[in-house]
Amino acid sequence: MILVTGGAGFIGGNFVLDWLKDPHAEGIINLDKLTYAGNLATLDSLKNDSRHVFVQGDIGDRALVAQLLKEHQPRAIVNFAAESHVDRSIHGPADFIETNIVGTFNLLECAREYWSGLPDDAKRTFRFHHVSTDEVYGSLAPTAPAFTETHSYEPNSPYSASKAASDHLVRAWFHTYGFPVVTTNCSNNYGPYHFPEKLIPLVILNAINGKPLPIYGDGQQVRDWLYVGDHCSAIRAVLAHGALGETYNIGGWNEKTNLSVVQTICQILDELRPRADGQSYAKQITFVKDRPGHDRRYAIDARKIERELGWRPAETFDTGIRKTVQWYLDNPSWVEGVVSGAYRDWVQKHYN
Ligand code: NAD
Ligand code: DAU
Repeated sequence: MILVTGGAGFIGGNFVLDWLKDPHAEGIINLDKLTYAGNLATLDSLKNDSRHVFVQGDIGDRALVAQLLKEHQPRAIVNFAAESHVDRSIHGPADFIETNIVGTFNLLECAREYWSGLPDDAKRTFRFHHVSTDEVYGSLAPTAPAFTETHSYEPNSPYSASKAASDHLVRAWFHTYGFPVVTTNCSNNYGPYHFPEKLIPLVILNAINGKPLPIYGDGQQVRDWLYVGDHCSAIRAVLAHGALGETYNIGGWNEKTNLSVVQTICQILDELRPRADGQSYAKQITFVKDRPGHDRRYAIDARKIERELGWRPAETFDTGIRKTVQWYLDNPSWVEGVVSGAYRDWVQKHYN
């Protein structure tokens, strides 16, 4: 088996579903705390699949993690669990320090203890895969080259600082203890099951619900978008063939300004679900106060993972965003399940 943490979240959930699509795949123990961002509805299709063992719990709970490792003897851990939303980290950084730094530390320590006791063969093949972000590298000038794996760490938000700290812990566990780690730093993901606090799902849902489409500042910030299924295939490639102690950047070669992303979504919705008054959804675009410390541009140089592991994204932005919009139109019940009271409180607090 493999142990996946945060597998009821957006990327972890997609990873679990993708992994178990293969009838010959190893089973998954899915450890997730089910914070506001974790949704079991994402995993509904696995209800009768005995290869999926879901456990509600915290990566920082050493007794629980030690017991799960002992019981299931996984050959790898893929650590997705994190607080992931930059705006929430600005309103309240404490949970980010607790899960992303202290939680990762506790998980590393439990995993190291388990790994130390494995027989030689299992010890040699064991992997701890840490899932991280391009935000650890900070912000790029408009014409600066994209982030490579050797770019310095310059995190600017409480979220990215906490992820940078966790990356450093993972790196240190390799260098100090020889603990077998790989780390991936990925750009912005989008796709099915994305929690609607993030730009793309928020805009799709606000649009069809007749609400404003909030663009921070001038909307000229640039992100490098990757379809979530491509992130999952990259993680599988690194888990299978990545070199120990190495980091791999993962990106979509899709740099877009926020304004152009929102305009594209509006055009697709104009076609798939035209507004009753015949006007474009772009009429709903509203410029709002900027995010404090807002990073201007991220861009990933994904040549290393292509050169060494032969991975390239399968989706272009045009194909991926169309699938994504269609998915949200086709899955209103998943959406209804996640826009609970806690979600509404967040929207009220943040946008008003
Ligand atoms: P998400 O917020 O959608 O999901 C996070 C999941 O982790 C949730 O299911 C939550 O319940 C769980 N979780 C939170 N704290 C936990 C804890 N203490 N113990 C156990 N489970 C806990 O996040 P996501 O967008 O799926 O991101 C997953 C990982 O990928 C994160 O590490 C994030 O930093 C990284 N990442 C995200 C993106 C992106 O664009 N979303 C890009 C690059 C890297
Ligand atoms: O780069 C990878 C990161 O991408 C991940 O590490 C994070 O976990 C993930 O949340 C994402 O961070 P961003 O801050 O880039 O994503 P978000 O969807 O919050 O915002 C994308 C851009 O859109 C960003 O420049 C802020 C802007 N934005 C966002 C929201 C929610 C708006 O203009 N309006 C909004 O209402």
